[in-house]
Amino acid sequence: MNGQPRHVRITGTGSALPGKPVSNADLMARGIDTSDEWIVERTGIRTRYLAEDGQSTVSLGTEAAQRALQMAGRTAADIDLIVLATSTPDYIFPSSATLIQDRLGAHANGAAFDVQAVCSGFLYALVTAEKFIRSGSHQRALVIGADVFSRILDWQDRSTCVLFGDGAGAVVLEAADAPGILAGVLHADGAQNRLLCVLGTVSHGQVQGDPFLRMDGQAVFRFAVKALSDVAHEAFAQAGVSADTVDWLIPHQANLRIISATAKRLKLPMARVITTVAHHGNTSAASVPLALDEAVRSGQVQAGHRLLFEGIGGGFAWGAALVDF
Ligand code: UT7
Repeated sequence: MNGQPRHVRITGTGSALPGKPVSNADLMARGIDTSDEWIVERTGIRTRYLAEDGQSTVSLGTEAAQRALQMAGRTAADIDLIVLATSTPDYIFPSSATLIQDRLGAHANGAAFDVQAVCSGFLYALVTAEKFIRSGSHQRALVIGADVFSRILDWQDRSTCVLFGDGAGAVVLEAADAPGILAGVLHADGAQNRLLCVLGTVSHGQVQGDPFLRMDGQAVFRFAVKALSDVAHEAFAQAGVSADTVDWLIPHQANLRIISATAKRLKLPMARVITTVAHHGNTSAASVPLALDEAVRSGQVQAGHRLLFEGIGGGFAWGAALVDF
């Protein structure tokens, strides 16, 4: 590389959604005491996709990865790193990344591991993989975000069960001559660990603790808007660019009100924000790569566009990445 830092670019995107869309009315028909009006007004969510029997983080992640490989014009044999962001792995171990490696047929080809940073997981996985490639130790990575939160929701708790959906998104990352990922900033504050959590595990052959997602929605909301705008500014400073050079903000899709409040603080009009929360719900680690893939395939995001990715969730953990696509 002639002593020059090598660059890292996204060369393909892919995504996968399970089952059929489930509307707010469908949830009411399943006995949840809610209304379409409440959900749409408070969150912007109209539908979500819920995994069916036989579908899982590994099956959805594999599908998304295959589509990303196809767009990049690569095969599994070209990949020497798989980083999967998930909080809902198929098993405690082996990691779901190794199971995806096996399904892709990329046997014993490089490294594969899971990253657990909940809704900011894709940012953590992307920034991690970018550093592997930039260092020269690896050439081509699959970075996947996949989650099936429907399996950790308390369907009796209307304040959380209406918010989430299942899905997966993936990108292929490659060493390149021209800049792609311009900045990546990650943060965590473990003091906030009880705001959004699943305080359960398997021990001595049984579920110990509470196996369901619990959230203090209002506290999360307040924390998220400030953290997301602050971390975006850190990414701009790291790359030495200004906010007005961003073509598209692609934020974690948790709530339309959080997205629009963050965009407002960044002085970005909603016309330059990719939103999929209305039809995907909150898909946790999958939400940013799912939104990216949808926007690439619809022609909104095009080669040469500058993108700002952001995510925040349980931990608390959050991050941003600035990317020339
Ligand atoms: O991935 C990151 C994680 N999550 C987030 O980013 C979520 C952040 N937080 C939020 O998006 C919002 O706080 C929520 C959408 C979760 C809740 O909105 P809110 O405006 O903060 O509502 P609230 O929790 O203050 O509840 C207001 C009312 C309550 O009734 P009362 O006590 O005022 O009579 C709730 O019982 O809304 C009621 N409620 C519902 N009503 C109908 C709560 N959930 C529902 C529901 N349907 N599903």
